[in-house]
Amino acid sequence: MAFFNHYLLIFILFVLSVESADPSAQLCNDNSNSTTPQITKNIDSILPKLVQATSQFGYSATSFGHGEAQVFGLAQCRGDVSTQDCSSCIQEAAKEIRSFCPNKVDARIWYEYCFLRYNTQNFIGELDTGFGVFYYNVENVTDPKTFNKGLGSLMYQINTVAAVSGSKGLGKGETKLSPFLTLYALVQCTRDLPELSCRQCLAIAVGNFPTYCENKKGCRVIYSSCYVRYELYPFFFPLDDKQTPLESSSMTNYRSVVTKP
Ligand SMILES: *[C@@H]1O[C@H](CO)[C@@H](O)[C@H](O)[C@H]1NC(C)=O
Ligand SMILES: *[C@@H]1O[C@H](CO)[C@@H](O)[C@H](O)[C@H]1NC(C)=O
Repeated sequence: MAFFNHYLLIFILFVLSVESADPSAQLCNDNSNSTTPQITKNIDSILPKLVQATSQFGYSATSFGHGEAQVFGLAQCRGDVSTQDCSSCIQEAAKEIRSFCPNKVDARIWYEYCFLRYNTQNFIGELDTGFGVFYYNVENVTDPKTFNKGLGSLMYQINTVAAVSGSKGLGKGETKLSPFLTLYALVQCTRDLPELSCRQCLAIAVGNFPTYCENKKGCRVIYSSCYVRYELYPFFFPLDDKQTPLESSSMTNYRSVVTKP
């Protein structure tokens, strides 16, 4: 299938910093057209619309302007985060995206809690796994057989949930690998995607596990159409009182790989 076929250019190894203010990834597409004054105006107009609607509904896809200057935008928060976290994330995203990509019409920014994208080409509803970022824990699991069995069935289960309508693209869950070890996973598609495209996006992400995440204690796949993450510690909401996310202490163990179309 064509979308399995993209050739991967790989840039390796910068250490992930997880200050919540830092983007997980950003793309300013050099191959896209340069902005014109009218496009710039439309981008400046669509961003507050996206911020407002996404703060309220957790998701927004819209357009602004007409003709060649028309701008399409999409923003979405991770489905488990609070309205407040969603709102502050998307505000930050709207601010940052303009400063790192002032001159191109195709820009995207990913944070742990939200995603924002715009383009003069209409991408709404289109499956896009061309640009991707994989974050993996450098540490390996001690029992790959049990781990991969548990991971496979958990992924199958939550991917199915994410794809059905009514789920808002979100699937999450956990599974006990041993009395002392629990695996947590969360997947999410952008809400503009039809069910089949959501399934395809998640299948492509999981299909790349053997390449980038094989036997890793944690891994994250970031695409424009979907997001996949698993960890051996709780990282999604609601966290119960006993659970402290270990994120900050373990994050220095992560490395990233960027894939391009
Ligand atoms: C770039 O802009 C031209 C017109 O200004 C348009 O015809 C073309 O489709 C645009 N290309 C992309 C990739 O958006
Ligand atoms: C994990 O396993 C891979 C492949 O066997 C190996 O190259 C790597 O060094 C291991 N990482 C650690 C931290 O031991």
